Amino acid sequence: MEIRKVGVVGCGLMGSGIAQVAATAGFPTVVREVSEDLLKKGFGSIEKSLAKFAEKGQITPEHKTEILACLEPTLKLSDFADCDLVIEAIVEKLEPKRELFRELDAIVKKGAIFASNTSSLSVTEMMTATQRAPQFIGLHFFNPVPLMKLVEVVKTVSSDPAAVEAGLEFARRVGKTPILTSDRGGFIVNRLLVPYLLDSIRALEEGVGSIEDIDNGMKLGCGHPMGPLTLNDFVGIDTTYYISEIMFNEYREKRFAAPPLMKRMVAAGMLGRKSGKGFYDYSDPKNPTPNRELEK
Ligand code: 3HC
Repeated sequence: MEIRKVGVVGCGLMGSGIAQVAATAGFPTVVREVSEDLLKKGFGSIEKSLAKFAEKGQITPEHKTEILACLEPTLKLSDFADCDLVIEAIVEKLEPKRELFRELDAIVKKGAIFASNTSSLSVTEMMTATQRAPQFIGLHFFNPVPLMKLVEVVKTVSSDPAAVEAGLEFARRVGKTPILTSDRGGFIVNRLLVPYLLDSIRALEEGVGSIEDIDNGMKLGCGHPMGPLTLNDFVGIDTTYYISEIMFNEYREKRFAAPPLMKRMVAAGMLGRKSGKGFYDYSDPKNPTPNRELEK
């Protein structure tokens, strides 16, 4: 199962990062979005990220040009026909993902591997929309994809070990360290990370500490690069809320239940960095200030 050509469906935050690292490793990579505008936006973030690497001398201007030449933007799924690996990074909802894989199954050559970048949905339930269960795996990347070194490779009860091995090898070829996990909601990382993120919000709700003290506690006391409330803002309050709902439904355990404050923040549009306000106010993005309203 040699992977020569890669397809990425979705050019949002995760899809654009996955396409970027695949192209950086030299894979011809087709990237599909549903509109020209979204493609332009996704390619804009790839350019920006490559520019940062070029500024630091981590890639040469020639390599940057080669990377961009490896990327083929498209609006059509039919352009995935000859891909050896197709990675899905669309909206985190089961039905649209199943529908996409059903369509792709009729288009992409037999034997090609399908992978989902889902963070918490069941890979098995996506797999059953296709006729290629043995070639179906999860490849879960982390945000920001160009920097984070991990990929979770998810095997289902039906995955062919050769497809799993190809997934592990692909992750290595794009410069990541793969870890192998089975198809359980949240896999390894979100199973541990999501309760921690939710607990940091509960700590704030209960008045255990201020926003910056909770963050500094974990940054300075445990050496985390970001405190948990900053990380909530970085991932997106709505995204973590949505993942927690999926995981709570899977496990029915309190530790995955979203705290009331989080639910209200999502309703109020306080979604973190992307909306300009969450646990911090990003009016000045380089100097976020704690959102004191939440401490009352
Ligand atoms: N491409 C290229 N370079 C980038 C970049 C990108 N996309 N994003 C940031 N950088 C560069 C910056 O320009 C900066 O360069 P400099 O040192 O030359 O100035 C450097 O990376 C460091 O960035 P910052 O100064 O902005 O900030 P940090 O030092 O805090 O590093 C971070 C940023 C790497 C994101 C670090 O804070 C970190 O590791 N945070 C934790 C992230 C994390 O936990 N991610 C996982 C989220 S969970 C997830 O994805 C799973 C999902 O299912 C929810």
